[in-house]
Formats: sequence, C-alpha cells, structure tokens
Amino acid sequence: MKERDAILKKKVESSVEVIPPEELAKLDGIVDKYGGRAGYLIPALKEAQDLYGYLPMEVQRALAEGMHIPASHIYGVVTFYSFFTITPRGRHTIRLCLGTACYVKGSKEMLENIVREVGINVGETSEDGRFTLEAVRCLGACGLAPVMLIGEDTHGNIHPPDTVKILEGYQ
Ligand code: FES
Repeated sequence: MKERDAILKKKVESSVEVIPPEELAKLDGIVDKYGGRAGYLIPALKEAQDLYGYLPMEVQRALAEGMHIPASHIYGVVTFYSFFTITPRGRHTIRLCLGTACYVKGSKEMLENIVREVGINVGETSEDGRFTLEAVRCLGACGLAPVMLIGEDTHGNIHPPDTVKILEGYQ
C-alpha cells in the first residue's frame, strides 16, 4: 500500500501542466462549494470535469490543495471510476457495445471498421479531436443489437459496413 501511495504521489508530482493558471482559478467556486465537506469529493470532481472536459494533474492538485485532501487520494479516485478521465476527450464519445448479443450481430466488425477508418482503438481519441472510443459490455438495448451510442444518441440495428457512414454525421 505504501508503495502504491509512493507511485501515485510521484505521478501526481511529475505531470506536465496543460491548463493555464488563470483557467485554474475557475476551480475556486467548486472549492468554496465543497471544500471542508467530507464525502463531497466525487461531486467536486464531476463539476471540475464538466468545466474542463477532463481532469489533468494540475486540476487534481488544485482541488487537493483547496479541499485539503492528499493529491494521491484524488488521483486514486479519478483513476478508479471509469466516468472520470485524465486525458482530453473527443467532442463525441462512441460507446460501442461488445456484449454478447451485439457481438454475435457484428459489433466486432463495427469495431474493426472504426479502428481502420477513424484510426482509433478502444480508449483512444482521434487526432482531430472528434471521437473518443469506448467499449461497453451491454447498453441494455439488446433487442436493437448491434448498438452503439454516440454522445446521447442511440444507434441500433446497425449494418456493420454502415458504421463509418453513421460517424460522418458527427463533426
Ligand atoms: S449486448 Fe449490446 S445492448 Fe446488450
């Protein structure tokens, strides 16, 4: 455990800064709202992520300082929950279902099309900043298999060769 803490601490300290200090001042409202309230770290992180689109190290450090929480603890929370991200995301998040019903109806082929045509694999963001690709296990819409979400939009009964054509509607 000590070793893990040391690694986390090192990561937090060694990060490259990408958000200018004046932008970080926007965190003050979040710190004022949640600072000193035990158990409010998750909503504070959620609001910070809404603000910047992701949670780079300097945002985590500023929150740690403002909320008097160890930065290594914040890093541990951010990397534990999949809805937090420490890297910038694309304008549109593709959530491709690779659950059984979707897989047997062609979501593997959809994934291959995205990898080939968009140039990103699961967990990656396209160079033009348009898409981030995530794989999910089931979207609860198995009757529409194969299914993918793009942002809030559900696309079902997809003919796998049409995958990239669907993506063209998102700039
Ligand atoms: S398996 Fe894809 S929606 Fe359920």
